[in-house]
Amino acid sequence: MALPLLQLALDNKTLPDALVSTRLLASEVDVLEAGTILCCSEGMQAVRCLKALYPNRIVLADIKAADAGTILANMVYDAGADWMTVICCAPIATVETALAAAKARNEAGKTGGVPRDVQVELTGSWTWEEAAAWRAAGVKQVVYHRGRDAQAAGQSWGEEDLAKIRRLADMGFDLSITGGLVEEDLPLFKGIPVKVFISGRSIRDAADPAAAARSFKARIAELWG
Ligand code: 5RP
Ligand code: MG
Repeated sequence: MALPLLQLALDNKTLPDALVSTRLLASEVDVLEAGTILCCSEGMQAVRCLKALYPNRIVLADIKAADAGTILANMVYDAGADWMTVICCAPIATVETALAAAKARNEAGKTGGVPRDVQVELTGSWTWEEAAAWRAAGVKQVVYHRGRDAQAAGQSWGEEDLAKIRRLADMGFDLSITGGLVEEDLPLFKGIPVKVFISGRSIRDAADPAAAARSFKARIAELWG
């Protein structure tokens, strides 16, 4: 089983604030996420800046697109994103058009190593029929997400989540797992072929963010190595 990657979610309200975190953490993580909050606040400038400063990191634009797949996908890819998110309640046409934009760039061969890709973000409600439709449309990656607000309202990780995550893996999806993740949550997912663990606040807000990221990665290696 490949070692899961570590993604740093930058849900900062300003770009300068996000860059304080990346200066400490970019070399400690595999993927840099321009978070939904940062994208709403700073727009594509945040994505452009992350890719310009850290060209060797995968950059994900967590825009949770709900419509206008072609325009939004081209916008994030033009800004330098490698991956983007589409929200699970988006029409299948949005998923398909965003995927088509990624595919066109991959076929043009100008993506410099990391293929452009679209992740479906599982925040809120979705069905197994929709999951089958995403797979049929060519979606490879999904993000299993305990929403920030759901977490704040007291929702914790449970057996129901793990059963869904295992079923998604069995369907052939590459899984990113996120939502208030702390290092102590990692053993819950042991044995599941997770592609990426995403952490924001628990690493960014740690007293020593670089040490927190290293410890997160060491725990991943211990559990999946
Ligand atoms: C919220 C998000 C966040 O990026 C995700 O939840 C990770 O951040 P944190 O670890 O701080 O919860 O997409 O919608
Ligand atoms: Mg995010």
